[in-house]
Amino acid sequence: MQTSFTTAAFGAVAIAGITLLIIGPPQNRTDPVASTVPPPVATALTTPAPRARPAAAEPQWVVPDADALPDNDWGRTVRYGRDLITRTFALIGPEVADPSRRYAGNNLSCESCHLQAGTKQFGLPFQGVFADFPNYRARSGAVGTIEDRINGCMTRSMNGKRLPPDGPDMTAMVAYLKFLSEGRPVGAATPGRGSGAMPELIRAADPVRGKAVYAKICAACHGPAGQGQRVGAVGDAKGYTFPPLWGPDSFNDGAGMVRLISAANFVRSNMPNGTTWQTPALSVPDAWDVTAYVQSQPRPQRANLDRDFPKRLQRPVDSNYGPYVDAFSQEQHRLGPFAPIRAAIAEMKASATAKAPQPKPLSEGR
Ligand code: HEC
Ligand code: HEC
Repeated sequence: MQTSFTTAAFGAVAIAGITLLIIGPPQNRTDPVASTVPPPVATALTTPAPRARPAAAEPQWVVPDADALPDNDWGRTVRYGRDLITRTFALIGPEVADPSRRYAGNNLSCESCHLQAGTKQFGLPFQGVFADFPNYRARSGAVGTIEDRINGCMTRSMNGKRLPPDGPDMTAMVAYLKFLSEGRPVGAATPGRGSGAMPELIRAADPVRGKAVYAKICAACHGPAGQGQRVGAVGDAKGYTFPPLWGPDSFNDGAGMVRLISAANFVRSNMPNGTTWQTPALSVPDAWDVTAYVQSQPRPQRANLDRDFPKRLQRPVDSNYGPYVDAFSQEQHRLGPFAPIRAAIAEMKASATAKAPQPKPLSEGR
């Protein structure tokens, strides 16, 4: 198995190399598809994106095959973990027959966002994630486990309840995540993790322009009112062909998908569904604007969001809720431009460090 992974990886690198020659590295590309919506008045982009984009040829993107595992306890557990990711609504969703199993509060699956069972490059994949936990979480201001992180998505993205950390469902999900991280050393970066880092706009994202992009491109699948399209009927726990993007059965306002930077990059790297980050279908401004439109729509509200980011200087610039330490409006935190906020926070961090008591030099009175 190891051999075939390696061979596949070399093949992928070779292909990625050729692709790179043809299309150039992603951050230098102009948008390949002309926008179907008239360009906004000011489309200038900042360069480069604030987060470094991994080199395209670098990753050996390995997608381990859970079906190749033997039919033993480990193989069955990993596959059950994968089922929980891809069929969340059917196993622990709000419409399952056994009320004690209703952990998720909406009928999404983890896979609605962690695409292709959590294995797609820049589709919020899980490769490398297991090796990265426990880690410091700014949102809670403490070191958290991978179980805490999964429960973060359970209570926010899935708008539901925490899974018992030592129960069989959590064990299976973590087993699947560990399986996907095999060969990823602790401390090593996994290029392709996250959702990407396209250039930012120097203007605020424009939900009004985004509405037109939505109608032209997204509504065909996600519905004109963002309600998505069910596989069957309400109550049958069969989930969605196209998930809702807002409304009562969507993620809540404390979810990661409500933060514009992660979400707009997710949309650009993956939508319309099937798009890859190498061949985005949306122009950069369209991706920011349409995501801003989606985020301006109503969705379930989470209580006590003001308790997030207790160390307030650590709040991400695109946090859609306060309290903020800087003087920028909530609207600017939601829509950008983010560079001025980032600069102000960096300055506050620097002066906080300067004001902190400094250790006395050794020579002084010792
Ligand atoms: C509505 C979209 C959405 C759904 C549904 C969702 N997540 Fe997430 N998840 C996110 C976003 C956004 C992030 C944050 C990525 C980042 O920090 O850049 C995330 C992060 C994570 C991470 C950490 C990833 C990393 O790279 O550190 C894990 C683990 C995770 N989710 C597990 C789950 C599980 C398990 C489920 C289902 C029970 C789930 N998620 C459902 C959007 C979602
Ligand atoms: C061809 C159909 C299609 C089109 C067009 C499309 N999507 Fe999606 N989208 C999907 C599917 C399917 C998923 C879930 C993937 C899965 O479950 O494997 C998804 C998932 C999503 C998600 C994460 C899940 C959630 O519930 O929020 C977001 C956000 C999203 N799409 C936004 C958009 C935006 C914005 C557009 C327009 C630019 C768009 N999509 C266009 C099919 C589509």
